Amino acid sequence: MKLGSPKSISAYPKTILPIAASVGGLALFLIFASVLLVYQPIGTKVSGYFYKVDHAPAIGLLSQNETRIIENWVNDTNKKRTAVDLSTNKTVDSDTNMTVEIDTNKTVKTFDIGTSKTADSGPNKIADSGCDLYHGIWVHDPAGPLYSNNSCPVLTQMQNCQGNGRPDKDYENYRWKPTKCDLPRFDPKKFLELMRGKTLAFIGDSVARNQMESMLCILWQASIPSPSFPPVNRGNKRMQRYYFRSTSTTIIRIWSSWLVHKTTESFDFAPEGVDKLHLDAPDETFMGDVPTCDVLVLSSGHWFAKRSVYILNNEIVGGQLWWPDNSRKKKIDSTKAFEISVETVMSALVTSLDYKGLTVVRSYSPDHYEGGAWNTGGSCTGKIKPAVDGELVESEFTNTMHDKQVSGFNRGIKKKTNKSRVAFMDITKPFSYRHDGHPGPYRSLDPNKITKRSADGRPPPQDCLHWCMPGPVDTWNEFLMETIRRDFEAHDS
Ligand SMILES: *[C@@H]1O[C@H](CO)[C@@H](O)[C@H](O)[C@H]1NC(C)=O
Ligand SMILES: *[C@@H]1O[C@H](CO)[C@@H](O)[C@H](O)[C@H]1NC(C)=O
Ligand SMILES: *[C@@H]1O[C@H](CO)[C@@H](O)[C@H](O)[C@H]1NC(C)=O
Ligand SMILES: *[C@@H]1O[C@H](CO)[C@@H](O)[C@H](O)[C@H]1NC(C)=O
Ligand SMILES: *[C@@H]1O[C@H](CO)[C@@H](O)[C@H](O)[C@H]1NC(C)=O
Ligand SMILES: *[C@@H]1O[C@H](CO)[C@@H](O)[C@H](O)[C@H]1NC(C)=O
Ligand SMILES: *[C@@H]1O[C@H](CO)[C@@H](O)[C@H](O)[C@H]1NC(C)=O
Repeated sequence: MKLGSPKSISAYPKTILPIAASVGGLALFLIFASVLLVYQPIGTKVSGYFYKVDHAPAIGLLSQNETRIIENWVNDTNKKRTAVDLSTNKTVDSDTNMTVEIDTNKTVKTFDIGTSKTADSGPNKIADSGCDLYHGIWVHDPAGPLYSNNSCPVLTQMQNCQGNGRPDKDYENYRWKPTKCDLPRFDPKKFLELMRGKTLAFIGDSVARNQMESMLCILWQASIPSPSFPPVNRGNKRMQRYYFRSTSTTIIRIWSSWLVHKTTESFDFAPEGVDKLHLDAPDETFMGDVPTCDVLVLSSGHWFAKRSVYILNNEIVGGQLWWPDNSRKKKIDSTKAFEISVETVMSALVTSLDYKGLTVVRSYSPDHYEGGAWNTGGSCTGKIKPAVDGELVESEFTNTMHDKQVSGFNRGIKKKTNKSRVAFMDITKPFSYRHDGHPGPYRSLDPNKITKRSADGRPPPQDCLHWCMPGPVDTWNEFLMETIRRDFEAHDS
């Protein structure tokens, strides 16, 4: 039987936990590098791994000194830039239609930043404002992505699929078309204008980093050659912080694997060392920064497959890949723990007295290890375009995680006041079609990496969880921009 055929897929384990366990291994394996990015200063032994060609550091945490490296590279890039096609036609926002043709007349309108507010309030926009953005189809769009691997200096090598030798490129040329309206193409200048004087924070795991880098790559295009060029990372080890001078917009990212309070000391019958998640307390590493933010994008889920102990009301109620004593019964599993964590965080944010911003929860990001798990022959090798309906492989685990997240979100916002602003960015279903959007075997620059199946049909090691940049993940920021626009419009009136 061919790996990846629908037959082998339906033979997936029916229970959640074995899949969760294997995804856990994956998380451990893939997220390791991300953790390093957060905790390891650049320039030590690992530097070779994190430096891109041209010596641009991946988006690690840069000290003031290291920031210079990025500026240098950007200056070099700028010279190259003349050769790169940065024609403004490419950033056209065809805001009333899915027109993929470049319309020069509209370009003028799109870049009329000063009047973006009035431009946005045309009859079409108002009609669109209630439209369900997440129900629709992927359509081919030769206009292509908003940036390239060469024009974005802040791009983790693991996501630089083209730079890592991925041979196909057409996966970059699809746009999401909601059934009842259009999702406007991301307009970096409009976005910065919308976020004038404001702070946007991405909080979560390596998939949050994926989205934050996509945002930076897109915005980077707008900041050249304006006075905000180049944006500078003013962050520290805990928090990355990019400041766009032209509009005083700040984009930050804070790592939080589970979004809830984590300890490692021994607790009751759980020994020191194993991560303990206090499911009823939000993660203090980001909660303290929340009052300074205007928009939060929360992203979590994949780490619930990783080894940890679940604690609720000061009592151990479960564990993932950790349970010393089978005579004891677990009260909750990892998916329930995920649900509670989302409820806890949402509840804390909507009842916070100091935070008045918009909270966006980005729904569970589907992975595409077809025909097995990451370590049992699962693969997205050879996927070069979005799945069509008949091909779509439903993942029971993804569906469960999504449903738990929705219910955690809904429970959490029960306590909302009339000042609370929340949105659920429901990308799970649209992205279940994008098995072509992952790095697959093109995860690194290693010239000796294996990219083909072996003689016995086994696929090479691969990443079918994170997303290529540029690639479909850029659409998340189009969803985000539209979500922010709608929220700001509703609150300004
Ligand atoms: C930054 O550079 C200054 C001198 O240019 C040096 O004294 C300092 O130790 C450097 N800091 C780091 C973190 O490397
Ligand atoms: C990059 O170029 C800008 C403008 O040309 C200049 O002010 C800046 O000092 C340069 N940065 C470096 C590190 O050379
Ligand atoms: C882009 O627009 C310019 C006019 O603004 C036009 O001359 C050029 O041909 C356009 N490029 C493409 C690829 O359509
Ligand atoms: C939208 O596109 C369709 C064809 O794709 C066209 O028939 C229609 O007139 C367009 N509408 C607008 C408002 O441009
Ligand atoms: C652009 O505008 C000019 C003048 O207003 C008009 O003649 C032309 O047809 C327009 N082009 C498109 C593609 O709409
Ligand atoms: C970008 O991708 C191209 C292949 O499409 C590759 O030749 C180039 O080296 C890559 N650049 C970077 C900076 O990764
Ligand atoms: C919002 O809540 C405040 C205080 O709880 C109340 O005074 C006000 O009337 C409420 N506004 C709306 C529109 O419900």
